[in-house]
Amino acid sequence: MECPHAGSVPLPVIGAEMLRDHAALTRLRESGTVEVSLGGREDGLMVTRYEVAAAVLVEPALRGEHPLAVSMRTGADEEACDEEQLFFLPTEEHLRLRRTVSRQLTHRRVAALVPRVQREADRLLAAVPPGEAVDLVRVFSRPFPVAVLCELLGIPREERGYVRDYLYGWVAEYGGASTVTESAGHALSRYLKELIAARAQAPGDDLISAMLRQGSADAELLREDVLAAVRFLLVAGHRPVTRLITDGLELLLRRREHWERLVAEPGRLDATVEELLRHVTPTTLASRYAAAATEVDGAALAGGGGVHCALAAVNRDPERFEDPDRFDPDRYDPGRSDSGRAPNAHLAFGLGHKHCLGSALARAELRIAFGALLARFPRLALADPAPGAEEEPERRRLWVVLDPDGDHDPVPR
Ligand code: HEM
Repeated sequence: MECPHAGSVPLPVIGAEMLRDHAALTRLRESGTVEVSLGGREDGLMVTRYEVAAAVLVEPALRGEHPLAVSMRTGADEEACDEEQLFFLPTEEHLRLRRTVSRQLTHRRVAALVPRVQREADRLLAAVPPGEAVDLVRVFSRPFPVAVLCELLGIPREERGYVRDYLYGWVAEYGGASTVTESAGHALSRYLKELIAARAQAPGDDLISAMLRQGSADAELLREDVLAAVRFLLVAGHRPVTRLITDGLELLLRRREHWERLVAEPGRLDATVEELLRHVTPTTLASRYAAAATEVDGAALAGGGGVHCALAAVNRDPERFEDPDRFDPDRYDPGRSDSGRAPNAHLAFGLGHKHCLGSALARAELRIAFGALLARFPRLALADPAPGAEEEPERRRLWVVLDPDGDHDPVPR
C-alpha cells in the first residue's frame, strides 16, 4: 500500500529482525511515531511509545479494515488456505469469528483443561533423556503448545502427527526452512472439515463441540465459522508460546539467580511469567487500520492507512517501565492496582478489539511448562559446549541438560 505521506526520501525499512533489536528500537522510539516501510511490503506509521500504543490499540477510529481485507467465506474454502488472511478479515466477519471463539474459550474452560495441559508437559519431559544434551525446542517448547491446542480442540492423539507436521512447517524460524505447501494447507482444511462434521454428529467436551453447540440459524455458516476459528487458533496459538518458553528459559538459565530463586520459591512463577512476557514480547507487532482519514500522535493518516505498534519497543518504554531493560519479576504485583492497571501492565497480548484470544490459555500453559521444568529438573542447565551449534544456524535451538548431575538409568530410545 502506498503511504500518502511518503515524500521523495525513502522510508526506513523495518524488517522482522529489527522488531526484536532493542538498540534499534530505542533509537526509533526517540524519533516518536514515524512513517516506515514494513518489510518493504506495506507503508504505515510505526508506534514505539507505550502511551501512544495503548491509545492506538483501543481507538475506535482505528477499527478499520486492512485494505486487502479478505472475506472469510473465501478463507474457509479449502481452495484458499492462506492462514495469514485470517488476520485481515472484514470487520463483520472478524467480529463473528471472535464471538464464536471468546464465548467458549473462557477462563472456566482453561481451568478445566489444566490437568490435561499438565499431563502433556509431563509426558513430553518424561521422554527426554535427563543426562544428555538435548535441543529443548525440538523436545519440548515446540511440541508442547501444539499438544495443548490438540487437547483444547479434541484432536485425537493418533491424528496429531498430521496437524503437528503442518504447524511445524509453518514455523520456519523454529523448524528450519518453511515446508508448508498449498496442498498441505488444503489437506489440513479437509481434515478439519471432517473433524467438525464428526463433532456435529457426536459432540464431546472439546472446544469444537462447544462452538458448534452455540447454534445458529445458518448451520452451514456456523460450520464455516468454526473451521475458520480452529485454523485461527492453530496458527496464532503455538509460535509465541514456543518462543516464550525458549527465550524465557534461556534468560532464566543465563541469569541463574532467577532460576534458583524460582526453585526455592515457586510461588513467584506467575510474576516471573508476566515479566518474561514483557521482556521477551514474543509477538512483535499489533496493527490497526484507519476507518477514515485521521491523526495518530500528531501524524496524519489516510483512510485505510496502517498503524503498527512495535510491542517489543512499547514494552521497554522507559516512560512506562523503570529501568526497562532490566529483567525484574518483582514488577508484577497482582494485589495492587492503579486505576485497574497492574504495575507490570505489559502489552504482550495487545489490547482492544483484537486483543489475544488465547491469553488465559497462554498464561496457564506457560506456568505449567516452567513449573514442570522447575519441579522435575531443578538442576537444569545450558549444555556446555552446545552440540551441533554450527548446524543450520538459522534454526533456533536451545541446548540444555535437564539433570546434569543426576544418577540416571539409561532411557530406552
Ligand atoms: C505467549 C503467548 C502469546 C502471545 C504473547 C500472544 C500475543 C498476541 C498478540 C500481540 C496478538 C495481537 C493483539 C492485538 O492486535 O491487539 C494476538 C492475537 C491473537 N492470539 Fe495470541 N498470543 C499468545 C498465545 C496465543 C494462544 C495460545 C492462542 C490460542 C489458543 C492465541 C490466539 C490468538 C488469536 C486467535 C489472535 C487474533 C485475535 C484477533 O485478531 O482478533 N494466542 N496474540
